[in-house]
Amino acid sequence: MLNIVIFGAPGSGKGTQSERIVEKYKINHISTGDVLRAEIKNGTELGKTAKGYIDQGQLIPDELMIDILASVFDSFKDSKGVIFDGFPRTIAQAEALKNMLVERGQDVSVMLDLEVPEDELMTRLIKRGKDSGRADDNEETIKKRLTVYHSQTAPLIDWYKGEKKYQHINGLGTMDGIFADICKAVDSI
Ligand code: AP5
Ligand code: MG
Repeated sequence: MLNIVIFGAPGSGKGTQSERIVEKYKINHISTGDVLRAEIKNGTELGKTAKGYIDQGQLIPDELMIDILASVFDSFKDSKGVIFDGFPRTIAQAEALKNMLVERGQDVSVMLDLEVPEDELMTRLIKRGKDSGRADDNEETIKKRLTVYHSQTAPLIDWYKGEKKYQHINGLGTMDGIFADICKAVDSI
């Protein structure tokens, strides 16, 4: 099984590159952000809870997120692997992911860290906010998301280095060029 964690700040290209990885390696995709946005769209209880956090640029509580992740993961049948996009975002989530995979006789294969300078992240997300109108893509909320990234999520870089799963990817450049670097990293596992 090929279990890839795609990691990076808001706007670093996790979703964009996940689509390509899914296509090439024929694995399943879990984007926790997409799962939550679908719940909001459908007006579910979970969606109502999630909206309060997302609109503030804050993270959904770990216990809730971990339960959702396991249920989506277990819904895949005959899977060749999974790309985890937007999860884990805290040390508690990383430990929960590891335990969940170990319980199922699996492991994280690699963690790909898409590194992009902050001014470029801001430019990309402001542009997307104008084009497609994601509610959290406004300057004020993007700044909060970046602060949360630095305080709660970035510590996972050292955590995955400790696990010997860490792989740095330069996330600045063309989408094709970045994808080529990702493929090199994945093919060398
Ligand atoms: P989530 O949906 O995961 O959002 P995010 O991490 O803020 O990241 P984005 O989806 O905005 O960016 P991306 O890295 O996927 O980049 P993309 O490919 O879209 O989470 C949203 C919220 O949900 C969180 O704030 C939190 O509240 C909650 N949540 C989700 N998961 C959670 C968890 N595990 N625990 C707790 N809460 C959770 O690209 C961005 C833009 O740039 C696009 O327009 C794209 O076209 C463009 N672009 C991509 N690549 C390039 C390139 N190479 N050059 C130029 N432009 C590019
Ligand atoms: Mg995304």
